[in-house]
Amino acid sequence: MIKVLFVCLGNICRSPMAEGVFKDLIEKEGVSCKFSVDSAGTSGYHIDQLADPRMRDVANSKGIKLTSRSRKLVVADLLEFDYIVAMDESNYEDIKSLEKENHSAKVVLMREYDDTKEGINVPDPYYGGIEGFEDVYQILLRSNRNFLRQLCTEHDLSAD
Ligand code: 4NP
Repeated sequence: MIKVLFVCLGNICRSPMAEGVFKDLIEKEGVSCKFSVDSAGTSGYHIDQLADPRMRDVANSKGIKLTSRSRKLVVADLLEFDYIVAMDESNYEDIKSLEKENHSAKVVLMREYDDTKEGINVPDPYYGGIEGFEDVYQILLRSNRNFLRQLCTEHDLSAD
């Protein structure tokens, strides 16, 4: 079982969408039984809330249901998960600041996997217009396709 955790600041916009997109891709590839997927936020601003309605609307329009509720990242996540995927550099630094020697999680930036190389951060759409949420979806779709491809190669996964 490969355990993947997506992390942003509030866990109501970018990381729930990343979780939803990744789950949709592994389902379509027939490899969902090989993965455990979750998301979390570095802040505790929105604990127990569903994803932002604007993010859920965009997800719905792509056939993806976002059902996760916001939770705060905890130190134990760095032991529990194999991959922790940060949405931006600030999230990345916050995750790394919790890291101890015995922690096994590989911490990566989501856009390391975006082959457009148009930026390193998934932009925070919270204070902007609806087009920012669509943009986040497109970035996450591109990045997660490549991320999954790489994981399947690294871990020798195929559908069964
Ligand atoms: P997220 O977006 O990190 O993508 O979930 C945000 C949601 C809420 C806030 C900031 C970012 N906030 O400041 O409340």
